[in-house]
Amino acid sequence: MYKILVLPGDGVGKEVVHEALKVIKRIESLAHLKFEIKEDQVGGASIDQHGVPITGEVLKKAKDSDAVLLGAVGGPKWDSLDYKVRPEQALLVLRRELGLYANLRPAAVDPSLIEASSLKREVIEGVDILVVRELTGGIYFGTPKGVEKNPDGSERGFNTEVYSTHEIERIAKKAFELARKRKRKVASVDKANILESSELWRRIVTQVAKRFPDVQLSHLYVDNCAMQLIRNPKQFDVILTTNLFGDILSDEAAMLTGSIGMLPSASLGDHHALYEPVHGSAPDIAGKNQANPIAAILSVAMMLRYTFGLYDLALAVEGAVRNVLKEGYRTRDLSVDGTVSTSQMSDLIVERIEH
Ligand code: IPM
Ligand code: MG
Repeated sequence: MYKILVLPGDGVGKEVVHEALKVIKRIESLAHLKFEIKEDQVGGASIDQHGVPITGEVLKKAKDSDAVLLGAVGGPKWDSLDYKVRPEQALLVLRRELGLYANLRPAAVDPSLIEASSLKREVIEGVDILVVRELTGGIYFGTPKGVEKNPDGSERGFNTEVYSTHEIERIAKKAFELARKRKRKVASVDKANILESSELWRRIVTQVAKRFPDVQLSHLYVDNCAMQLIRNPKQFDVILTTNLFGDILSDEAAMLTGSIGMLPSASLGDHHALYEPVHGSAPDIAGKNQANPIAAILSVAMMLRYTFGLYDLALAVEGAVRNVLKEGYRTRDLSVDGTVSTSQMSDLIVERIEH
């Protein structure tokens, strides 16, 4: 029996994960499967209850499960806390402790949502990008880091961007393997004109590429990539990049699709996997039944595909989402009028999942 740990977290995370669970129930009955589902706290919810963003017990449960489904963490209530006990730390702890080095963030433009994008139809029609973000290294985890006093009494804050050969090798390999199932193009994004760590990144990615002669590799500086994503996003297939650049570029890629409320993600390691919407906890609309549940629902589809190998069912969920959008249903992030609520949207999707 497959074990799923559900960590709704904070804000709209709680709402969208709740809706995504309806999809899991639907899959169970369609495919005559049974998932063992446990739920626990993470982020601000865990801080309020236990004083820490994630407890050792929850971390152990995550390690014992086949997949983790996470909502979102954070909110203004916890923003003034010290970095070490902020809700966001829960994500970093999970990524590090579960070894989730490969973050997959697909951004595909749905034909029914072209009008929801802030870019022109001809620019975004047919866009289908997969951002492969390194997730357990770089400046997010590098040491030394901190805030220290200068001799003159002022302060200095610092972080370290650091990548080792094997970290670059394994994420590059992942990107090339994924590209083989797509259009066989990898754009590696770095800042090799300035950063030594990027110089190594580019060198190692080029080496790994030799094992994938059927995949076309290009290199771009991150500033150029940010521009190209807006100028001509159709040129991209797989974008391979570092933790920090991937954080930024994946939000940008998300907006090509019309709303960040649409984008799922998978964080994969050699032994564990975590699935979560790319969007955050959206405190401004939390508790109002307005959030778009599609990112969370598509994260379940990714779970079905990457952890459970249930490809048909993943396609069935994705097809249901496409159909609902084609029929014109929109949550508030996608349209200004005639919108449906979070729970209505997921009910509409669940009704349309067919095997
Ligand atoms: C993301 C988020 C996180 C990140 C934050 C919440 C720590 O922005 O998953 O993209 O920066 O990785
Ligand atoms: Mg981010």
